[in-house]
Amino acid sequence: MIIAPSLLACDYGRFAHEAARVDRSGAKWLHVDIMDGHFVPNISFGPEVARIVRPHFKGHMDVHLMCSKPEILLEPFIKAGADSITVHVELGADTVNALIWKIRSLGKQVGLAVNPPTNISEARPYLKKIDLLLVMTVNPGFGGQSFIEECVPKIQQADVWRRQLGLPYRLQVDGGINEQTGAECARAGADTLVAGTFLFKQTQLRRAVTRLHDRCLAASTSR
Ligand code: DX5
Ligand code: ZN
Repeated sequence: MIIAPSLLACDYGRFAHEAARVDRSGAKWLHVDIMDGHFVPNISFGPEVARIVRPHFKGHMDVHLMCSKPEILLEPFIKAGADSITVHVELGADTVNALIWKIRSLGKQVGLAVNPPTNISEARPYLKKIDLLLVMTVNPGFGGQSFIEECVPKIQQADVWRRQLGLPYRLQVDGGINEQTGAECARAGADTLVAGTFLFKQTQLRRAVTRLHDRCLAASTSR
């Protein structure tokens, strides 16, 4: 069970300090949300922030590109230290296939994200080519939104495919994750949970990460 705090919810005045705090929290992944103001109605930060935080976080940097033209951002974020790059299935088959090939050719792990209104079957053609399937549990663009319950069956379906096809992809959820919603997603098959607001609003990040991890691990083993 992986917990990935989302940098989007951190103190923007102290990126390096916040990355070090995530590192000390025991979280194995750091989720870096990149928004271009076009694919989503918000702008977050660029490769330079990823470069700044990289030396302060020793784990897996999980870059989530909510961008209309992610192809121009792959190399800058990989140079900044990204370990995996996630792109959205909504970009269309030609673009998605080209992106998957390019990220792989650059030697990094590939993630594919599916927005709440998008049918999970849209991801089906790519399952053998990806390392991570991200089922969005909010409409992308902002932290602090409410969890969309209707996305849970999509997690379950993605887990069924994974088992039926014997595929190794991680099943990630992102948006409105707290101990209750995280446990629900873990019961549905999620093994990688992004959490921003819920974690960064806590006074003790390490305790919050540990509690979320343990609660979701227990839920996943109760399946
Ligand atoms: C939303 C981002 C999420 C967001 C999660 O577009 O992709 O990663 O930061 O934040 P919370 O956990 O606050 O919903
Ligand atoms: Zn995200």
